[in-house]
Amino acid sequence: MSLPNVIPLSGVGAEISGVDLRHVSDQGFDVIAEAFAQHGVVFFRDQDLTEADHITFAERWGEININRFFAAHPDHAEIALVAKEPDQTDNIGGGWHTDHSYDLEPALGSVLVARELPETGGDTIFASMYAAYETLPDDLKTRIADLRAVHSGRHIFGAGDDTYYQKSDAGQGRIGNAEVADQLQDVVHPVVITHPLSGKKALYVNPAFTIRFEGQTREESHPLLSQLFAHCYSGDFHHRFSWTPGSVAMWDNRSTWHWALNDYHGQRRIMHRITIEGCALG
Ligand code: SIN
Repeated sequence: MSLPNVIPLSGVGAEISGVDLRHVSDQGFDVIAEAFAQHGVVFFRDQDLTEADHITFAERWGEININRFFAAHPDHAEIALVAKEPDQTDNIGGGWHTDHSYDLEPALGSVLVARELPETGGDTIFASMYAAYETLPDDLKTRIADLRAVHSGRHIFGAGDDTYYQKSDAGQGRIGNAEVADQLQDVVHPVVITHPLSGKKALYVNPAFTIRFEGQTREESHPLLSQLFAHCYSGDFHHRFSWTPGSVAMWDNRSTWHWALNDYHGQRRIMHRITIEGCALG
């Protein structure tokens, strides 16, 4: 029996071939899990997953998170729809972020399956937060070593006029439960985490949900947060993934950021996302 073949990519991630995600042996799963922990995002091509197969594969990683804000697949509550229609201007996930950092126990990761792709465009860029941490200057590493940061989802998913999904048309009919988002409590995570699977250090702040450092105002936090974000925008540890029919990506929310590019106006892009519960970060 042959095992999946893991090809590390420059920047971040690994492409895994020689595997049918409908039939992964226990040994094959171990290879994928190790690649996931080490590389932060794994990509598969030419898969043929039904919605049920998608759920079955995701369940091997842990408990599925039923998304509170995204529209769900009509027949499978486990699957969140990441959709953009031809008449929409904005998309879901169109900026650097990592999912669910606003939760006390942020999600382990997500399995995204391409269902309908635009003729051109619609790539997703990933960034390694292992590499972001490793390449920080030593003085900055020392400065952030004991800092903790506050994360919130209210300004993104909430009901206020100026929240991200109220201001844009990305959310219309696709993002809901703004009242629940308004009740979200801020959560605090270390700025440098020890990754629960790999034991490696990763930078754990992101431009979408990290609003300030604990014990500081937003204004006081801004210069250092901006400096950290600017460091992460460097392309040295990015990978741009071009989706093809049958593509599947699975990313780790603790060790990567991602950004769904919005460069396919007038076309449809439908993705199915399943997110897996994670754990508290230390
Ligand atoms: C997301 O941010 O979860 C969506 C990623 C994508 O659509 O490529």
